[in-house]
Amino acid sequence: MGEVSRGARALVVCPDIRGVAYDLDAGSRLAEAEGLALAIGIVIADSFVLPVRDVRPNLLFGAGQVENIRIACEQNEAELVVVDGALTPIQQRNLEEKLARKVIDRTGLILEIFGERAATAEGRLQVELAHLDYQQSRLVRSWTHLERQRGGFGFLGGPGETQIEADRRMIRQRMGRLRKELEQVRKTRGLHRERRERAPWPVVALVGYTNAGKSTLFNHLTGAGVMAEDLLFATLDPTMRAIALPGVEKAILSDTVGFISDLPTQLVAAFRATLEEVTSADVICHVRDISNPSSGAQKAQVLEVLRDLGVIDGEGVAEVSSIPILEVWNKWDQLSHERAEELTPLVEGSDDIVATSAISGDGVASLLDRLGDMLTRNATLQTFEVPVSDGRRIAWLHAHGEVIEDVPAGDDPALRSITVRLNPKELGQFEAMA
Ligand code: GTP
Repeated sequence: MGEVSRGARALVVCPDIRGVAYDLDAGSRLAEAEGLALAIGIVIADSFVLPVRDVRPNLLFGAGQVENIRIACEQNEAELVVVDGALTPIQQRNLEEKLARKVIDRTGLILEIFGERAATAEGRLQVELAHLDYQQSRLVRSWTHLERQRGGFGFLGGPGETQIEADRRMIRQRMGRLRKELEQVRKTRGLHRERRERAPWPVVALVGYTNAGKSTLFNHLTGAGVMAEDLLFATLDPTMRAIALPGVEKAILSDTVGFISDLPTQLVAAFRATLEEVTSADVICHVRDISNPSSGAQKAQVLEVLRDLGVIDGEGVAEVSSIPILEVWNKWDQLSHERAEELTPLVEGSDDIVATSAISGDGVASLLDRLGDMLTRNATLQTFEVPVSDGRRIAWLHAHGEVIEDVPAGDDPALRSITVRLNPKELGQFEAMA
């Protein structure tokens, strides 16, 4: 991993292949590819869409187009070409030869991002597995290439082949070891999750498109001013932090890897591994880059994945989410004056939308308020009589509910009557403690 260095100057090329049904139009796809490249610190020297009428098996693009890419590289002093599409191993190699530069395709780019961002042990293993799988296919390319050099006939046991066979064996062995490790990590993760399920704190999961501003927001929410106390698993999983919310003494904020459109299939497992956490959240906080022209399409894709994960059920007006979703309209500062005026009534008219600028911190306080509201919404007043000797349950009520009254129950000095505001989840948890 880490084939692309931060600060590398790159040309980003988005092929627009005739007859392919893309989710987004070419301009939006190009913008997204630029966002992905920026996300791993690539400097974009130039970027453009190239219409492809007929895919050339050897180069993808036509020879003239390849020459234009080469000239654009020279003019812009680009050392890397990012092709926002899938290249076959042969196309990648030929393009690298013709352009005399490193070429990476969309899968390669996303692998770089996942490699940098994978925060959990499981995520890292999944990414490494996906990467090895990708490399394995590149080895086939080298083999074909060598064979071609030798005249196109496989002389079994030839020197090139032996090397490649050895490489393949190594990759296979490494993949085998990784799978075993992954199994181990999953077992451990299961344990942690059980422990967390028993833990009384509600979970807020941050989801959103790549580059929407999740990490910036995460840092804001867990940074100075908000109590961030490490939990027993915080050291194991840096994407989880405890935060305090109005009315909620302690909640867990969980970050996830950003969504990417048209995720290459080899990467779906790696991506899902980071998202399973979302299904056990109490509130999903969907961070959107509201200033992005594709914001609507991006939202649709996020909802589609939530539907796949079983969070959203039903269609159209009958659509229901088993977990409340709060939309965060981030990058509000980047909206034009007119657009901001257009969107303001929507934000003001909805309990489920908050506008923020994660970069300046504007709106973060209302976001915290709203999250607090959502977690305590439906809270009801309950009165329990608890034996004084049951210090554990009394302490729990004080820690998790808003205690209105705590007095001796009638004449019985051994019993306390505690009136407390609890949401349904806490109520269930308290009752389960009996
Ligand atoms: P992934 O980790 O790829 O999923 O991205 P992310 O959603 O975590 O986005 P991140 O927080 O890394 O922000 C992406 C870029 O947007 C960074 O350059 C941020 O500085 C910028 N950014 C985030 N929030 C805002 C905002 O409210 N306004 C503006 N103008 N820029 C923002």
